[in-house]
Amino acid sequence: MALRPRSRRIRSALLAVAAACALVAGVLVGSGTSQAATTQPCDIYAAGGTPCVAAHSTTRALLGAYNGPLYQVRRSSDSTTRDIGLLSAGGYADAAAQDTFCANTSCVITIIYDQSGRNNRLTQAPPGGFQGPAPGGYDNLADAKAAPITIAGHKAYGVFVAPGTGYRNNTTNGIAKGDQPEGMYAIFDGTHYNGGCCFDYGNAETNSRDNGNGTMEAIYFGNNKVWGTGAGNGPWVMADLENGLFSGVNPGNNAGNPSVSHRFLTAVLKGEPNHWAIRAGNAQSGGLSTYYDGKRPNASGYNPMKKEGAIILGIGGDNSHGAAGTFYEGVMTSGYPSNATEDAVQANINAAGYGASGNPDPGSLTPGSAISLRATTACCTTRYISHTGSTVATSVITAASSATDKGNASWTVRAGLANSSCVSFESRNAAGSYLRHQNYQLYLNANDGSSLFASDATFCPQAGRNGQGNSFASANFASRYIRHYSNNVYIASNGGSNTFDATAAWSDDVSWVVSTSWA
Ligand code: AHR
Repeated sequence: MALRPRSRRIRSALLAVAAACALVAGVLVGSGTSQAATTQPCDIYAAGGTPCVAAHSTTRALLGAYNGPLYQVRRSSDSTTRDIGLLSAGGYADAAAQDTFCANTSCVITIIYDQSGRNNRLTQAPPGGFQGPAPGGYDNLADAKAAPITIAGHKAYGVFVAPGTGYRNNTTNGIAKGDQPEGMYAIFDGTHYNGGCCFDYGNAETNSRDNGNGTMEAIYFGNNKVWGTGAGNGPWVMADLENGLFSGVNPGNNAGNPSVSHRFLTAVLKGEPNHWAIRAGNAQSGGLSTYYDGKRPNASGYNPMKKEGAIILGIGGDNSHGAAGTFYEGVMTSGYPSNATEDAVQANINAAGYGASGNPDPGSLTPGSAISLRATTACCTTRYISHTGSTVATSVITAASSATDKGNASWTVRAGLANSSCVSFESRNAAGSYLRHQNYQLYLNANDGSSLFASDATFCPQAGRNGQGNSFASANFASRYIRHYSNNVYIASNGGSNTFDATAAWSDDVSWVVSTSWA
């Protein structure tokens, strides 16, 4: 590793040029100029001698010359499909095409196309060591509307992985096998994760089963503590190498791997014979940090590696599907990329301009504000979260409603009782009583001062999952959001064992307009 062959130096020089081009492209795009001749991540990897062999994104082109489809959606109203492409060659996703096709119905993402030219597309993951929840033991497909963002000011959607969701390709072309070198990066939502196994993107077994140590090499993101951990409480970027999430050379804890939760997180993993590295950074600005760079883990079976060359997204190698996360883009390469190549890719990612969409209105969610919370699902746009005693439900409220009903549907925003960067909702007509969940259902209870109550009564605002208003993640069950279902109110995950976790209409049911207080 200490030797730096001349060809690597030449590549580094080329990469500096590529990075500069990428930055220029970003500036041009930012100023509204057309995006011709853009240098994108796979152009940079190719210039570095480690070309992409898979390139997946629902938000943008990953090669300057790419002008094909990014992904395919299927709508529930008539089960037809539509490819979603680009606004221009090498540019950004045409999210308006999805919005038109999916208007007044729900849509799922059926295919994430491969831009590398190798047809390594991702589709609904089949059963393996574990059966998925969909018919035939397949995993669920992602709700196409559940992860709205902006990129360079354009609307786009990510791939929202609720537990049970998974994508896979077991018959790939050009992906590393055995101990062959490879690299990969992915951009995730660093605020959307859980401790389930395993929110992965990368190399896995071709039979969807656990084939033993070293048969995977995939980026993991989340706060699973079964195998590896880093500093703090997570989430962490780790390597799923099969039968182990590794945060560094040791099985278990490696304190050099920090908890990291940028809203848009760049996560990087690469491996070659007896050498691998984890790197990560903020996709919106700044460079990559190296969390580990060294020899293969101190555990048997991981040197040499026995990679099989399938590709997974959102699941573990054996089709474990307990994880949650959101994916925006990612690539896999042939060959071990240099840090200089990855740094140039990170500069390109910074310039791409990822941004959250429809951020919560800071005015209306400021602690002390009086608000009401209106449902956005088509059935229910006159219904507001309200309470009668301790029972919480949605109720139709109009100007003609009684003063009591209006008060019962009005809330004072408080700094989150368990986390001041989130919020709690105190009843306008029952001071000291807050919305809180218990057994996943919402109630109005007096604050008993306990830390459990504080957590149960704290919700973290995000952009509305259907693109309207806001969604509110539970502070202590991060993948569950305030949802109405049959006019009752819950914290619900997108898919799960409870009826109120149903995937149909989930993104609409968890999206609320923060409106003028009725009282
Ligand atoms: O390595 C962690 C997980 O262990 C893998 O993703 C899965 O195949 C196995 O259960």
